[in-house]
Amino acid sequence: MIIMVGGEKGGVGKTTLATHLAVARKALGGSVVLVDADSQGTSSTWSDARKEHPEVPQVPCVSLRGGKVHVELKELARHYDDVVVDTGGADSQEFRSAMLGADILLMPLRPGSFDFWTLLKMQEVVTLAEGFNDALKAVVVLSQVPPSAIDRARKEATDILADMPRFKLLKTLTVFRAAFNHSAGEGLTVDEMPRRDAKACSEVAFLHDELFGEA
Ligand SMILES: Nc1ncnc2c1ncn2[C@@H]1O[C@H](COP(=O)(O)OP(=O)(O)OP(=O)(O)O)[C@@H](O)[C@H]1O
Ligand SMILES: [Mg+2]
Repeated sequence: MIIMVGGEKGGVGKTTLATHLAVARKALGGSVVLVDADSQGTSSTWSDARKEHPEVPQVPCVSLRGGKVHVELKELARHYDDVVVDTGGADSQEFRSAMLGADILLMPLRPGSFDFWTLLKMQEVVTLAEGFNDALKAVVVLSQVPPSAIDRARKEATDILADMPRFKLLKTLTVFRAAFNHSAGEGLTVDEMPRRDAKACSEVAFLHDELFGEA
């Protein structure tokens, strides 16, 4: 499966979720490659930090740039069970071309109107891509939700997405938890941290299962 994590807004958790999903797939015994298709190169930095931790399974990370990313993603998918792609926003060539090859576009969004407004533009771009890639499924996951606002965030997102049938809202969300931030700097996941945050780990497990099924 080729799953890309992308979206217009910065700082919403794209790299966090891409790296966690890649490690979760690897932990289940499959072969997986993490693709850094964001010019900021954050997934590559995470991967470099991970090399300092020989105790955890390493996940190969390759950087791809330009408008032909989909061709390379398809090629990678012939060699790996899963290809997890970290892309930037809709204006990047990498985002647009990755959508031509992906099975799933996962868009993390923080609660609040500013992030949701970006979905209007996403609708146009996703519609264009679907003309070339009818396998593409676009899903939204709430990210960094304040613990006191979970129900409100869910309701707000459900209401907004009711008018955007192209986008499915996942049941899973991630709450704002320091564990995510701490693990990122180490090149690890929340599961691999010495002081494990069980709730953060559950959120990642639920996200994985919702995207990939229970298998
Ligand atoms: N659920 C969470 N709780 C707390 N902090 C989080 C959570 N998810 C991500 N973060 C932190 O928020 C910051 C932004 O996350 P991340 O880098 O994954 O976003 P991004 O969408 O990839 O950003 P960019 O647009 O810059 O590529 C990072 O410092 C990360 O550790
Ligand atoms: Mg990023």
